[in-house]
Amino acid sequence: MAILVTGGAGYIGSHTIVELLNEGFEVIVIDNFTNSNPESINRAIQITGREIKVYNTSLLDSEGLEDVFLHNKIQAVIHFAGFKAVGESVLFPLEYYHNNVSGTLLLCQTMQRHNVKNLIFSSSATVYGAPDKVPISEDFPLNATNPYGRTKLMIEEILTDLYQSDNSWSITILRYFNPIGAHESGKMGEDPAGIPNNLIPYISKVAIGELKELQIFGVDYPTKDGTGVRDYIHVVDLAKGHVKALNQNMILKGINTYNLGTGRGYSVLEIVKAFEKVSGRSINYKITERRPGDVAVSFANPEKAKKELNWEAERGIDQMCADAWHWQTNNPNGYEKAPQIMEQEFPFVSSNEREIFLK
Ligand code: UFG
Repeated sequence: MAILVTGGAGYIGSHTIVELLNEGFEVIVIDNFTNSNPESINRAIQITGREIKVYNTSLLDSEGLEDVFLHNKIQAVIHFAGFKAVGESVLFPLEYYHNNVSGTLLLCQTMQRHNVKNLIFSSSATVYGAPDKVPISEDFPLNATNPYGRTKLMIEEILTDLYQSDNSWSITILRYFNPIGAHESGKMGEDPAGIPNNLIPYISKVAIGELKELQIFGVDYPTKDGTGVRDYIHVVDLAKGHVKALNQNMILKGINTYNLGTGRGYSVLEIVKAFEKVSGRSINYKITERRPGDVAVSFANPEKAKKELNWEAERGIDQMCADAWHWQTNNPNGYEKAPQIMEQEFPFVSSNEREIFLK
């Protein structure tokens, strides 16, 4: 029996795979590598010394998906695959709805056909929109403010309807706050394509000299120093949260939603300072206008996950920044996007053209 991880080559997916393998689970990955690099899977194999079966398939390829379920005994699915850039989603809403929502529908239909009814879904704190107060609890009103966020919200609603129609499903919705950091080995981390949108990857590239300066989007928020406040969570803590959620999901039927955050908020300037401290580099920055759509303050009430999943984030902000910096300095070009070279390195051992075994 295996755990199927969609989008397993991505930032959170790859870290989760490592934690799953460390806990003894067998892992199968589906990824179409549109926004990720298969090298991340190789790194997961290096870190754990375990095998991973990988399918180069889109969730929109219903035949490909069917194949995966036909040829494997799947116990549960952790569903990460999806587009995730807020700005891009405003420009390309149809692509976002198609990829994220239709992809999830096809996945759930396939699961239903094969009687696989344990699902963990990767949602986001973005579904809370601009909260009236903090910390944010799971029962706060939901109000996504952009197409990306609405895809998450729509999927949450679809999954709720699905459970209502068939109580034999077990569905866990995880709402992430701001995942940052990298695996402590320095082998695995965030590898955004092009100029990063998010704070830590941007700061890392300024620290290493690849980008000139950070733009701080607004210093006139009603916060301690005027900059935006977020609940940054170490990606390894987040990954461990998935394993805890999976363990609960497999013994308990129902639909449950959990915030995965630390419960602490840090401002942009505090993050800059923490990064400067651990990297020994100074981060040039300039203050610019607010970024449209940003909220002033967002941080979680993580109590529900602590109580029901027996999970809590353990890594502090210095470690998050230190691990991000370790990853950046060890991999200045990320996973080195050079597919032709990488293919030669992969031991393809499959009769099925969609299937790759990585050892
Ligand atoms: N920021 C800057 N400069 C930058 C990038 C970010 O000042 O170059 C600031 C933002 O204004 C914000 C903070 O840093 O105050 C964090 O911004 P990120 O872009 O790193 O993260 P967001 O909170 O905007 O968004 C993240 C994910 C989304 C998710 C959202 C949920 O990227 O996918 O959290 O709240 F939807």
